[in-house]
Amino acid sequence: LFGQTKLTLYADQAETKINKEIYGHFAEHLGRCIYGGIFVGEDSEIPNTRGFRDDVTGALIDMKIPLLRWPGGCFADTYNWKDGIGPREERPSMVNVHWGGVTEDNSFGTHEFLDFCDLINAEPYINVNVGSGTVREASEWIEYVTSSNISPMTDLRKKNGREEPWDVKYWGIGNENWGCGGNMTPEYYADVYKNYATYSRGADYKIACGASDSDYNWTDVLMKKMQGKENLMQGLSLHYYTITHNWTVKGSATDFDEKEWFTTLSKTLFMDELIQKHSTIMDKYDPEKRVGLIVDEWGNWFDVEPGTNPGFLYQQNTMRDALVAGINLNIFNNHADRVKMSNIAQTINVLQSVILTKDDEMVLTPTYYVFKMYSVHQDATLIPANLKTDKYELDGQSVPAVNASASTKDGVISITLCNLNPNAGENVELSLHGSELSTSNAQIITAKNMNDFNDFGKNESVSLEEFNVPNPKSGKLTFELPAKSVVLVQLK
Ligand code: AHR
Repeated sequence: LFGQTKLTLYADQAETKINKEIYGHFAEHLGRCIYGGIFVGEDSEIPNTRGFRDDVTGALIDMKIPLLRWPGGCFADTYNWKDGIGPREERPSMVNVHWGGVTEDNSFGTHEFLDFCDLINAEPYINVNVGSGTVREASEWIEYVTSSNISPMTDLRKKNGREEPWDVKYWGIGNENWGCGGNMTPEYYADVYKNYATYSRGADYKIACGASDSDYNWTDVLMKKMQGKENLMQGLSLHYYTITHNWTVKGSATDFDEKEWFTTLSKTLFMDELIQKHSTIMDKYDPEKRVGLIVDEWGNWFDVEPGTNPGFLYQQNTMRDALVAGINLNIFNNHADRVKMSNIAQTINVLQSVILTKDDEMVLTPTYYVFKMYSVHQDATLIPANLKTDKYELDGQSVPAVNASASTKDGVISITLCNLNPNAGENVELSLHGSELSTSNAQIITAKNMNDFNDFGKNESVSLEEFNVPNPKSGKLTFELPAKSVVLVQLK
């Protein structure tokens, strides 16, 4: 069974850069993301470098992780950064009130985070504490990290073993301050933000807490109240999670039927409308698109795996997650004029992870392979495209069967396509304007069943494989896009 999709690419009109930061990740002090996932300590039997798992480090480098956000999330607005520096045995502990009430021993702090970012070649993005912190604490943290002046903070950094400042460009000023970060109104937060941002000297790219989902008023108030203070805000965030059912019963990560598959994908497509509407508001105040829309939390949020700590947000990851990642990343690419960064939640063992670990074992999830496949878009130039596709219908509802984006870099055109339909392939007819490329290669992520996943101690059910497509002739190429698949076609 095959439908028809026509994708026309205007390679001669490519001009918008797809920031590599769109492929960013998020790691919070939550469950086993940091402890056990990234950091096991030097004394662990798990092979590690300065306490960082070697298997995880290698996999993230291979995936070309460009950026990592830390330390939260809701955790960020409870975090006292000074508890996470200095000799480990002297660091005070705290209770992680948001995530399971466990004791946080602060053995992974600023130095460890920035050391890890160096190790995996990722840009760091640090989120300061607004909800329960002070302007002074935040400004001292930024000074500690970025300053080359002589000051008590830089002396402290040197005493802790780091002579040179780090190059940290991205700083988030609070997280979800409409909720876990202080339950503020947008008007109040905007004023608080200005206060923090004023004293955030050394933070080149300051990101304000933005809206949850479709809270368009939040975006409007922030943009309005920042008028005349443009130098204080370079980015405004947006958080949107795909929840299949509702916040009380979110649905299982692995045990789902086609109805739930459909609902999940259709709710994921809502990201496009969200970005369009938030961007339209931003355009009103910022037509030059100076302020970036930073989607610094996104992904699937399911019920935790049965038997695991409900506060640890540990979930498996199936072929459905691969589609959700592929769709979102295509949407971000297509809005690269406004979306300057995004961060999937959360790198390891939490929500829609790219990696799962169990003791010394590691599993690469279907989402991992999507990020690896899509890494070709990092810092490439977006190619405007026109997509005409069938509908994927179920129970009287429908979504477009195919979702796609395309870019060009170093003389190579890369097209990523998602077929949302789990039952039917699509005949894709690709037309290329303004390019005479003649050879092609392709890769695919697909699975036998829509809920296939990779598990510990078993062969992978979902991974990245070579895929055959014919070479283009006179700017045209036709191929079959299999049911429930994510495909990369590259033309040279
Ligand atoms: O990613 C998990 C949590 O989701 C984050 O801590 C918070 O910002 C959001 O509500």
